[in-house]
Amino acid sequence: MRALLGLFAITPAFAGLMPMPANVVPGVGVLKIDASFAVEARGYSDARLERAIARLTARISRQTGIEIRGGKTVLWIECAARGPEYPTVNQDESYRMDVSAEGATIKAPTVTGALRGMETFAQSIDRSADGFEAHAVHIEDRPSFQWRGLMLDVSRHWMPLPVILRNLDAMAAVKLNVFHWHLSDDQGFRVESRRFPKLHGLGSDGHFYTQDEVHRVVEYARDRGIRVIPEFDMPGHTTSWFVGYPELASAPGPYQIERKWGIFQPTIDPSREQIYAFLDQLIGEMAALFPDPLFHIGGDEVDPTQWNNSTAIQAWAARNGLKSANAIQAYFIRRVAKIVARHGKTMLGWDEVFDTTLPRETIIQSWRGQASLADAARAGFRGVLSFGYYLDHLQQASVYYGVDPLEGATHQLTPEQKALILGGEACMWSEYVDAETVDSRIWPSAAAIAERLWSVFPDEITDSMYDRLEEVSRKLDWVGLKHRVNYEPMLERLAAERPADSLRILADASEALGIEGRRDARHYTGLVDLNRFVDAARPESESVRRMERAARSVLPAADGLANNGSARDLAELRSTLTAWAENDSRLRPSGELTGLSKNLSILGSIGLQALEYLRPGQTQPAGWIEQQMALMKEIERPEAEVNLAAVRPVRILLEAAARRDPSGGNK
Ligand code: ACM
Repeated sequence: MRALLGLFAITPAFAGLMPMPANVVPGVGVLKIDASFAVEARGYSDARLERAIARLTARISRQTGIEIRGGKTVLWIECAARGPEYPTVNQDESYRMDVSAEGATIKAPTVTGALRGMETFAQSIDRSADGFEAHAVHIEDRPSFQWRGLMLDVSRHWMPLPVILRNLDAMAAVKLNVFHWHLSDDQGFRVESRRFPKLHGLGSDGHFYTQDEVHRVVEYARDRGIRVIPEFDMPGHTTSWFVGYPELASAPGPYQIERKWGIFQPTIDPSREQIYAFLDQLIGEMAALFPDPLFHIGGDEVDPTQWNNSTAIQAWAARNGLKSANAIQAYFIRRVAKIVARHGKTMLGWDEVFDTTLPRETIIQSWRGQASLADAARAGFRGVLSFGYYLDHLQQASVYYGVDPLEGATHQLTPEQKALILGGEACMWSEYVDAETVDSRIWPSAAAIAERLWSVFPDEITDSMYDRLEEVSRKLDWVGLKHRVNYEPMLERLAAERPADSLRILADASEALGIEGRRDARHYTGLVDLNRFVDAARPESESVRRMERAARSVLPAADGLANNGSARDLAELRSTLTAWAENDSRLRPSGELTGLSKNLSILGSIGLQALEYLRPGQTQPAGWIEQQMALMKEIERPEAEVNLAAVRPVRILLEAAARRDPSGGNK
């Protein structure tokens, strides 16, 4: 069974689905959703499933605005068995869903499969002329990759509990199934340790999760079919540990919580046995908080300066035949792997931990690329790809969408080796995000990554990706995410007494730079507020994307606006370009937005002029295109840590004009 691919862009049954199910066959008719809507389990049921049913009902109520009173069972959940108590690697997440005018059924072998199906049902609810409905459909679905993760760094910026919970809801909505919690780094140790209370006590500015809160997160995630894997990064990225326990470090200290970003020298001393006794107790305590069998020890980006400068460590290394910093790191990781195993866990680490002498169960998470995973897989190790899924780079969703764990170096692997590539994980490092902005940097891009990792044939549905992403992004409002709703208040706060709608026009036309663009833009530390224009601006502008589409649609042929352009698109182009052109004189910004705002107005004027020159019988003066293109090159340079995305549609118009000969013929 296979859906008709040509239907993806046009069939309503597909419009809100992301990730796209493996098999979708549209049916005939619609199922009305009204106040009597009710969901009921038949077959296996338990408290977890009942809570999921209550959540689905509440979600549909929020999503539709209908006050659902229940009474008539419309959706039946037929679950065969519980499945594992806590979600695991390789859990069965499959389900089937049938929707007809009479009712709907989700059948699944496990509760987790039923959860996935219920999310599909929520996504398939659509507005209709007189209310809400789900389109008739038959779906058979299962994931392509078993590991579909999101990593959140809560160290560099503190992420309070509600941030975690709402992001778990959003993960569940798009069928992501691993929450990787980056709990410690140079800038903070974020979990209560009862054995070593100075870890969180002195290493967190008071921003840490209590053990009760950790339990709450684990149970909340379990309810949503999501595994929780903690990461305690070591032996580097450990400055915050040394504030309370300087004796763990390779140089005497004292140490303070790191406020800047980067790779720092403080590193665990691998030469002393007391260190391993400490780690044994700490890992034991932390491992017991998390039911998942995997435990992440980081292992990345070790600066060996402290090791190299310590005569004691160098003497110890020489005695043990450890001839380089790499050999010392490998020794340390092997010792930690043994500790992790003693506490019943399997170790996971970044690329740098890979060493063929590690236990074969070790999983390698790659921030460096598919080649690392291919090397590991050839040696029989499992791997997860994060390279290409770094959300802190604020790439366009289509860029993340294009990254395939099984492309590039991993493409050459044998089928057995390929099976060791478990999937991928989006990473949100928190240098430039805080609780107010983090959702808007994770979402909706993470939904595109979720589709890449779940869908069986993502390359065939790329064309409809953005349409569906926009729909899904709006529905994520109803699971409580703040990725869209924080935008307006942030802009209003920034506008102060200036017209907020003009600031919004500028923000809608802008895209925030990611970590690479912000790192050297000013002196950032963890104490600098993230409350400027760049923090409000989104990574990718929906309204500019609409303008690009409109620009293309009015230019179906090289001969410009002839008669075949779409009148609506043309009107939208004109009105937005006009708004851009007039915006600077309305906004009159001072400070860092001065140049940016002027540039948007220049772009608006160029675009309007290009539209004129594209009219039948019109033509631009010789040299005009070249002049505008040169100007665009200037305007394209980031200002105030954003790019003016508005350049893109204007460039489409200019290029179209350039394709026409100034004398009226074609070049
Ligand atoms: C990493 O990006 N250093 C894991």
